[in-house]
Amino acid sequence: MNLVFLGPPGAGKGTQAKRLSQELGLLHISTGDLLREAVRNKTDLGLKAKEYMDRGELVPDDLIIAMIEEVLPEGGGVIFDGFPRTIAQARALDDLLQKKGLTLNAVIYFEVDDEKVVERLSGRRVCKTCGAVYHVKFNPPKEDEICDKCGSPLIQREDDKEEVVRNRLRVYRDQTAPLIDYYRQKSLLYTVDASKDIDQVYSSLREVIDAKERN
Ligand code: AP5
Repeated sequence: MNLVFLGPPGAGKGTQAKRLSQELGLLHISTGDLLREAVRNKTDLGLKAKEYMDRGELVPDDLIIAMIEEVLPEGGGVIFDGFPRTIAQARALDDLLQKKGLTLNAVIYFEVDDEKVVERLSGRRVCKTCGAVYHVKFNPPKEDEICDKCGSPLIQREDDKEEVVRNRLRVYRDQTAPLIDYYRQKSLLYTVDASKDIDQVYSSLREVIDAKERN
């Protein structure tokens, strides 16, 4: 199965993708995580991407598409989290899958309003070492500011500061939201109410995926 997780920043795409990929044995490809790794490693891509990411702008399509081409496995079985984010990226994904003889089975749209997004992103904490994601209120670590999984300190992402979040929301509306119609027209779009709590969102997601698997 090949799935796209679409939705505004902070909708919970990464949280749900981690859980679903483990349960179904799918590869979780998060363009945000790949870019942050490139920034940490100061690769050419990382150096180019950083200025866009710090401002909450999208990294240019050609860089993103080349990165996806590198990591997409021959046999598929992927959750794309945070990709595609523009119509050009969506078309490139269509071509890439077609070349490999793969199909996109569903696009899950995580629908949530801006107020919730700001609340979720302002409380998000991530592990510096292993990348685990927490929320100070909705998914707190057992020990304050320390990762449950590896014991490293938790930090706030630079782009989770409020003014950058507001810009990410604007960018989402202008450049990414048109994908909702793009995939609806292809009859691939399934909407999940992402305003509920983490377990409820996961149940709704499983209902969609289980129904797809039965068909
Ligand atoms: P990226 O890392 O993809 O950021 P994003 O899409 O803005 O998504 P987030 O990671 O912010 O949110 P999420 O939906 O995964 O939410 P999460 O599960 O963490 O991209 C970062 C940057 O990289 C972009 O701005 C851009 O510059 C660049 N980039 C990446 N991909 C690109 C592309 N394809 N093209 C061009 N540029 C690209 O949850 C958020 C918080 O809420 C957490 O604290 C979590 O614990 C909590 N939470 C989750 N679910 C719930 C719930 N149901 N109830 C309560 N709390 C919840």
